[in-house]
Amino acid sequence: NWTTGNVIDEQVEEIRARVGTKRAICGLSGGVDSAVAAALVQRAIGSQLTCVYVDHGLMRKGETEQVEKDFVAATGVQLKVVDAADRFLDALAGVSDPEQKRKIIGREFIRVFEQAQAEIVAENAADGADVAFLVQGTLYPDVVESGGGTGTANIKSHHNVGGLPEDLEFELIEPLRKLFKDEVRAVGQELGLPEEIVQRQPFPGPGLGIRIVGEVTRERLDLLREADAIAREELTAAGLDRQIWQCPVVLLADVRSVGVQGDGRTYGHPIVLRPVSSEDAMTADWSRLPYETLERISTRITNEVADVNRVVLDVTSKPPGTIEWE
Ligand code: XMP
Repeated sequence: NWTTGNVIDEQVEEIRARVGTKRAICGLSGGVDSAVAAALVQRAIGSQLTCVYVDHGLMRKGETEQVEKDFVAATGVQLKVVDAADRFLDALAGVSDPEQKRKIIGREFIRVFEQAQAEIVAENAADGADVAFLVQGTLYPDVVESGGGTGTANIKSHHNVGGLPEDLEFELIEPLRKLFKDEVRAVGQELGLPEEIVQRQPFPGPGLGIRIVGEVTRERLDLLREADAIAREELTAAGLDRQIWQCPVVLLADVRSVGVQGDGRTYGHPIVLRPVSSEDAMTADWSRLPYETLERISTRITNEVADVNRVVLDVTSKPPGTIEWE
């Protein structure tokens, strides 16, 4: 007899019993999953929880501000923000291979997280309570796709932010481990999180780092961030947010094509739009977006984003394509 109320009550009770007088930390990514997991644990243990938000420089426009303002306002959670952009970009320099990028990002998360954890322990030395638990917003499909659940082949190394720090000395609290995305949204709503957080489309932990096909650089990130913001603005303006599951915007950084703008020849990069509809991200279909919306996105991106002279639409389902390009 599944209800959101039951799930919350059950988890709150279980988490309280497990944590006792100890402390927990939780990595926030700006995504729905980590936000709902954090809010749930906050409900259970209040100020014994500290959230850590690692700004890895691979975030979308407005992401950091949303976590700093909206999430804290809704939950009253204790938040530690770590600006780690330089460190991540240094580590990613010269790397184009998708799995290598994912591993590097995961590894840097662990390091930044360990550092934050040490600081939290020091800051709370007065009460002598050990930081013994790590909260993660792992969902059921993450468990399955990372090969941890039912023996399915490992498709991609998923990193829920917090970075799956297996070698950290924490016990994991994963209150969403049995839930699908729509159930997580219902739980978040019940916990009083604002619509803008609960109804957000999924965004991968490694962020824009896995949406640049090729090496990740600051300039490329800035460019992609602009293109992504335009696509999101137009999809929202067209009222399509709830109809599509998510719409990755991908920069083909190593590809150039010839274009013409004004009287001049250009030789710029393509941006790929990857709108998909899905129930749980395990399979997906490409979304049939209205041509007018596609046209607006394409016109704006090619006009407003320097060095982009072509916008292409990905019409592949999953399988055979995955949702993200890397
Ligand atoms: P794929 O590309 O495997 O993506 O079809 C399935 C869903 O998972 C998201 N995704 C991630 N989420 N950490 C996350 O938290 C990750 O490393 C990661 N990689 C992919 C993707 O956006 C889609 O919703």
